[in-house]
Amino acid sequence: MEGYDRTTYGKAFADVYDEWYADVSDVDATVATLTNLALDGGTDARVLELGVGTGRLAVPLAADERLAVVGIDASEPMLDLLRRRDAGGRVDALLGDMVDDLPDGPFDLAFVAYNTLFNLTGEGEQERCFAAVAERLRPGGRFVVEAFVPDDGDESGEVVSVRSMTADRVVLSISRRRAGTRLAEGQFVEFTEADGVRLRPWSIRYATPAQLDAMADTAGFEPEARWADMSRTTFGPDDERHVTVYRRHGGRPATPSGGSTGDRP
Ligand SMILES: C[S@@+](CC[C@H](N)C(=O)[O-])C[C@H]1O[C@@H](n2cnc3c(N)ncnc32)[C@H](O)[C@@H]1O
Repeated sequence: MEGYDRTTYGKAFADVYDEWYADVSDVDATVATLTNLALDGGTDARVLELGVGTGRLAVPLAADERLAVVGIDASEPMLDLLRRRDAGGRVDALLGDMVDDLPDGPFDLAFVAYNTLFNLTGEGEQERCFAAVAERLRPGGRFVVEAFVPDDGDESGEVVSVRSMTADRVVLSISRRRAGTRLAEGQFVEFTEADGVRLRPWSIRYATPAQLDAMADTAGFEPEARWADMSRTTFGPDDERHVTVYRRHGGRPATPSGGSTGDRP
């Protein structure tokens, strides 16, 4: 989308993010699963969240004093909200790109939640992200990717729908995708009596689980588990979302407390 860059999403959504996306996934289950994977039988761990946003996940995760949590995001408005939420200052919040500006490792666990990997829309950018994460994980460290499963169709299309409507406010969702590109983009268009029109643009490059597995393989990961959600529900062919655990080659074998042994995709 012309005029769209890595800071656009945060500028467009920071003021509504926590209201609109509070319930998109189970925060308690996410914290429990990520804590288990990060510690993996040890006593403490370093964790990195890519696209940490307002700290919806990182702040509750960092409440566990065994975890040192670093989050990176390209948007200052999103990080401002994180700092407000993080009263204890437990999350080390960095402004930067989740490919080019990742902090030094080694980390025990990295994760990218709620389709955030798909915010990397440049050709080859997701592949570079897997490689950059692999470089910063200890041998045997894990990268957890949560994303939607794209449908099978690949035709171009445009969709307009109503997201919400009250007497003084309507939000329309307008989106389109182009065949053969894996690119989709859209706008939430908000009309209010008081403030007129507000645009909230988004742009993604989606990937199937198999395409993500191929990127992970090239970067030196092996798939360890695939679930339908962070509660570790068994993944099936009709599931619309997946949580995939990739393990960096090397290191000691996973312990049962890591929780994912034997649960391969
Ligand atoms: C959908 S939000 C997810 C926020 C948070 N992880 C959560 O689950 O609530 C996506 C976040 O990724 C950030 N983002 C987008 N592109 C980025 C990039 N290239 N580098 C770092 N952050 C990016 C946005 O600013 C936004 O905060």
